[in-house]
Amino acid sequence: MITGAARRVGCAIALELARAGCDIVVHYRHSSEQADQICEQIKNMGRRCITLQAELSDSSTWESLISETMQQLGRLDILVNNASTFLTNSPGTIQSFDVQQWEQMYRVNLLSAAALAHYAEPFLKANGIGKIINLCDIGSKRPWPKHLSYCVSKGALDTLTLGLAKAMAPIVQVNGVAPGIAEFPVEFSMETRSKLIDKVPLARAGTPDEVAKLVRYLIEHGDYITGQIIPIDGGRSLH
Ligand SMILES: NC(=O)c1ccc[n+]([C@@H]2O[C@H](COP(=O)([O-])OP(=O)(O)OC[C@H]3O[C@@H](n4cnc5c(N)ncnc54)[C@H](OP(=O)(O)O)[C@@H]3O)[C@@H](O)[C@H]2O)c1
Repeated sequence: MITGAARRVGCAIALELARAGCDIVVHYRHSSEQADQICEQIKNMGRRCITLQAELSDSSTWESLISETMQQLGRLDILVNNASTFLTNSPGTIQSFDVQQWEQMYRVNLLSAAALAHYAEPFLKANGIGKIINLCDIGSKRPWPKHLSYCVSKGALDTLTLGLAKAMAPIVQVNGVAPGIAEFPVEFSMETRSKLIDKVPLARAGTPDEVAKLVRYLIEHGDYITGQIIPIDGGRSLH
């Protein structure tokens, strides 16, 4: 199961894991058309695929996402917590502190990941090969004041990743993948994009496919890796 898998990075992960031989649950919130398209694409690759809709800030959806998966596909070996709220237009600064916005960040970026891990745990353990990958962010270690609520939620997701790795060992491996720039938010101007790229030693943005390949690597070859959060940022976190 990949959350937020209809578009952008989540979609690249879903396709990459389907290429690796996985059956896929495409979770989405609003992007139903894109979810259906990617599901068709995955079925054409010979894999089973279902789409499940859920608003992840709504705690009543968490358990049913897992139970629906089990009902329809009969097993769950991999959970990729990819869905996330990043508000470009109403930044989470401390000056504009908005308790509802902070709560929303926490519910989607942190609590849903914890809850899905909780409800998935027995099924991840059932076949002895469970993996959880959380989509983190290098911004958790170098928080941007303009997006403080987002960065703090990702910092908590880092801690969740380490804690889950201990709590679910030895059967389930839990790791994080922390992009720098994987795909710019559409709202970012060319000027903002080039300013951000100037800070990247490898002098370019990354791509969703590069993130997806790292996720695939951790799933296929990560049996002795747990509790790690791997930056994929062109060296941005060296500064
Ligand atoms: N893009 C980057 O450069 C970058 C950099 C660092 C870290 N990351 C992390 O990598 C992951 C993927 O990045 P991205 O840019 O592809 O993410 P994104 O486009 O911001 O969001 C991915 C999906 O999350 C779903 N989502 C958002 N709010 C939701 C909610 N309340 N309930 C349920 N689903 C919700 C949306 O689904 P619908 O479209 O169906 O509504 C959206 O398509 C995220 O965790 C992000 O924090 C990305």
